[in-house]
Amino acid sequence: MLNIALPKGRLGDEVYALLAGIGYDCPEFLENSRKLILENKLNNIRYFLVKPSDVSIYVERGAADVGVVGKDTLIEFEPDVYELLDLQIGKCRIAVAGPETYEKSAEASLRIATKFPNIAKKYYASNHRNIEVIKLNGSIELAPLVGLSDLIVDIVETGGTLKENNLKVLSKIMDVSARLIANKSSYKFKGADIDLMTGKLRARLENNFFGG
Ligand code: PRP
Repeated sequence: MLNIALPKGRLGDEVYALLAGIGYDCPEFLENSRKLILENKLNNIRYFLVKPSDVSIYVERGAADVGVVGKDTLIEFEPDVYELLDLQIGKCRIAVAGPETYEKSAEASLRIATKFPNIAKKYYASNHRNIEVIKLNGSIELAPLVGLSDLIVDIVETGGTLKENNLKVLSKIMDVSARLIANKSSYKFKGADIDLMTGKLRARLENNFFGG
């Protein structure tokens, strides 16, 4: 049995569609139930539905053999896992954003609200700028609107959240996308199953790329 940690929410729906496309479908997924473990006995797989930022924890600790996680999480937390494949979905960027009226300030230290303290610190260190990181867990865009921070470092996908809150991208830090990851010892013991799944996904992505 291969245990797969699937992110819940926006990315999860895209990942599920991709997995269903290679025959790893699980009709229960579409029922929007509150069940957290779903099985496809035919393919001998089991899905665990987890918060996107927790996927790498399940995989690193071996509770799940494989999982799908944003490259942003891999860069931020550096979990000890194998990164097997760029799934080319969940494409977005990590960017610095701030109020539309924001003008560069000469302040000695900028207050940055973010879910990604390490990425923010590295980015500003490379730009020789002092920052104070304010770690938040969500609704990051609210912080500069209410004076909690000067700017934010956050994921921008469609740009809709920024726009609706009168914020704009000030600089892009990096492009990110969803990655298939595997637990290192699972890869030793279930390597054949994991390679089979990875191969099917890779073929599917290449077919899509060539319009198949
Ligand atoms: C993410 C991110 C932004 C938003 C960007 O938040 O932190 O808030 O999506 O997407 P957009 O550019 O398409 O508007 P998420 O939806 O994960 O919710 P959160 O605020 O709980 O982190």
